[in-house]
Amino acid sequence: MPMSQKKTILTGDRPTGPLHLGHYVGSLINRIPFQDTYKQFVMIADMQALTDNYDNPQKVRDNVLEVALDYLSIGIDPTKSTIFIQSMIPQIAELTVIYLNLVTVNRLKRNPTVKTEIGQKKFGEHIPAGFLIYPVHQAADITIVKGDVVPVGEDQLPILEQTNEIVRSFNRIYKTDILHEVEWLASKTPRLPGIDGKNKMSKSLGNAIFLSDSADIVAKKVMQMYTDPDHVHVDSPGKIEGNTVFMYLDVFDSEKNEVAEMKAHYQRGGLGDVKVKRRLIEVLNAFLDPIRTRRAEWASDKAQVMQILFEGSAQTCEVASQTMEQVRQALHLDYK
Ligand code: TRP
Repeated sequence: MPMSQKKTILTGDRPTGPLHLGHYVGSLINRIPFQDTYKQFVMIADMQALTDNYDNPQKVRDNVLEVALDYLSIGIDPTKSTIFIQSMIPQIAELTVIYLNLVTVNRLKRNPTVKTEIGQKKFGEHIPAGFLIYPVHQAADITIVKGDVVPVGEDQLPILEQTNEIVRSFNRIYKTDILHEVEWLASKTPRLPGIDGKNKMSKSLGNAIFLSDSADIVAKKVMQMYTDPDHVHVDSPGKIEGNTVFMYLDVFDSEKNEVAEMKAHYQRGGLGDVKVKRRLIEVLNAFLDPIRTRRAEWASDKAQVMQILFEGSAQTCEVASQTMEQVRQALHLDYK
């Protein structure tokens, strides 16, 4: 496909912690092929991270670098993808203010993603307005680069629906066609549970294995992993369903026949949890080792990592100012 025909894809993460295996399986892994099939923007959403971390800007600041290191070490290539920092694109904030006129407070309160998150975060009566409007901010993230495709988890789908509502309102009210609706790209990879086996992997639940974890930490976490609680004797039969260790082996162990044999042995009885866990430790560390090596290389030259983010942000700014020029024209704000 010639370069000009490639669709634009926007992916991104809130820098509230280092990225973990759940992020990898659910989205990061797809960004490697995306950088050839799409024009890919990868955004570090520091402004969005501040909506519920406004009282801890240093945490967000520190994690911008961690997330950038995660990206580079898994193979997101800055010569193919444009990696940028959200706050370095002031046009996103400008566009957000324009979009806010097109959205009602009631519509925001009804957004299922926001509703769920407000409950989880226990804001009570004190919902920060910035948090409530983050779907509008995200609509600006996507449309400022004229994103065609956005691959987010199913839980973020209501945000894309709201983005498309804003796009349609904008084009109708301002009699233009400069904005276009975005397409959701569903992830085909399974959702990875945390080491507790109960919840999806998440830093705040303390059940995550990070891409930046050392081999020793990985071993420790795997040893704590939830298996079959009724499998107390090695000789007795064990259950595979809901057994976190086998779920991880299904994802990360490329020796499918050996995994099948281990499953059969476990179900028959005679295969202990510790043995299966040792196998998983080996498999995970073999997967993470090259990532660790690249991470250490990039981490030894943080100035270069920042330079990559500055260049990506400068490129994004150029695209953003073109979009804003059209937006200002449509709104009769193009004073001359
Ligand atoms: N809300 C996304 C998340 O929590 C991060 C994000 C912000 C994003 N803006 C985006 C993702 C735009 C895709 C496109 O993971």
